[in-house]
Amino acid sequence: MATAKGKIKTVFFCNECGFESPKWVGQCPACKAWNTMTEERINASASVAKTVKEALQGETVIAKIDEITLEKDDYVPTGMQEFDRVLGGGIVPGSLTLVGGDPGIGKSTLLLQICRLMGQKGHSILYISGEESLKQIKIRALRLGEFNDKVELMCETSLTVIEEVIRRKKPEIVVIDSIQTMFLEEVTSAPGSVSQVKESTGVFMRLAKGLNVSILIVGHVTKEGTVAGPRVLEHMVDTVLYFEGDRHGAYRILRGVKNRFGSTNEIGVFEMRASGLTEVENPSEFMLEGRPKDASGCVVTCSMEGTRPILVEIQALVSRTNFGIPRRQAQGTDTNRLNLLMAVLEKRVGLTLNDCDAYLNIAGGMKVTEPAIDLGIVLSVVSSFRNKPLPPSLAAFGEVGLSGEVRSVSQIEGRVKECKKLGFTTCIVPETGKDALQEIKGIKIYYVASVTDAIKVLDEV
Ligand code: TYD
Ligand code: MG
Repeated sequence: MATAKGKIKTVFFCNECGFESPKWVGQCPACKAWNTMTEERINASASVAKTVKEALQGETVIAKIDEITLEKDDYVPTGMQEFDRVLGGGIVPGSLTLVGGDPGIGKSTLLLQICRLMGQKGHSILYISGEESLKQIKIRALRLGEFNDKVELMCETSLTVIEEVIRRKKPEIVVIDSIQTMFLEEVTSAPGSVSQVKESTGVFMRLAKGLNVSILIVGHVTKEGTVAGPRVLEHMVDTVLYFEGDRHGAYRILRGVKNRFGSTNEIGVFEMRASGLTEVENPSEFMLEGRPKDASGCVVTCSMEGTRPILVEIQALVSRTNFGIPRRQAQGTDTNRLNLLMAVLEKRVGLTLNDCDAYLNIAGGMKVTEPAIDLGIVLSVVSSFRNKPLPPSLAAFGEVGLSGEVRSVSQIEGRVKECKKLGFTTCIVPETGKDALQEIKGIKIYYVASVTDAIKVLDEV
């Protein structure tokens, strides 16, 4: 009989959740997604036996929570404030961070800039690229400024080599660009496949925890918007960040999706320039830039992104439909939400919208999912439907319920203050905010209980 070691077997992995099955099935038994199983050849026994053996060799520490001491330098700031904010203060030593995003969005640029800043602070850094040659990286680096000798580069895709180099050099920070190009010889499937990505991440995980190096991994995103390879990758790492934005536009947003060391709602805003990414200190100003004057259908609303209120402009275009079925389309927010809010307007306010097409856009290309922008959506639809512009100094926010009521939102005061900071003089907010909000000089506040009330305010101002 053949020994178990080296025996190749074929298994099927779900692209969505990483579920492993010995035979092909149409629907993944774990996440119920259809047609997501892909065939891969793996080396039967090696990986499990190895991890168990390794696990037993390592020292296991059992501790009482009270007895664990925390050190001040648990977060190492990168010097790039927007990045630190998303991470919760900086990079945690021994952590594994995944930076996902569409190809060409600027992940390599961002990480190289972070390497540069960290290098200047005296941290030792190893940037490992499986995608570009040393010369290509140099060309990019020239645009970003001077690098000191703390930053070292390596072009390599073999994990066996990478592991050995990291173990010998013990840098403080390692960047892997990208996980889809890395491969382990023992895993027979191609780089980028589910089992390769899973096993490679496992290796980096052990390296990060074992040697206390912080590892930042780049992962490309698929059409469906998840990091190529399985979701398991997201489960394994400590922090998942997504770098998003319109590739044709200049701004980029770094969003925390999972964070074991901080909040996940924070975002960092950057602008892509010829000399790399620069931080945008006042995102509201940035998002409202170039706002049209006296255009119907435009309303400014406020969304909380983590601890930061950000003003965004909602644009609606409502026009009579030319076909039997009206078209509804929303960019930057959920189309279903638009449909729902239009139904509320029909039923509770009596607007005849059933034969109207409606297009909604969040200007600046931001993606907002917070329900607090509901009132903004509603008012922009009304404004476009009536073809009546709203005063440019007005902002509105509040969640809208199915019976047309305007419900409370968190941190009203912070939002109103942000509006004031950017020169708005009128705010429409939920009635429930009355208690939470003290009078703020220079800004007139209308408290509304329902969508009908809010529309009445429009006629007043
Ligand atoms: P890149 O970091 O290579 O993207 P990713 O690693 O996510 O695939 O970024 C590529 C884009 O960024 C490229 O289209 C050019 C642009 N860019 C700038 O506009 N300015 C710069 O200084 C740099 C380095 C890149
Ligand atoms: Mg890249």
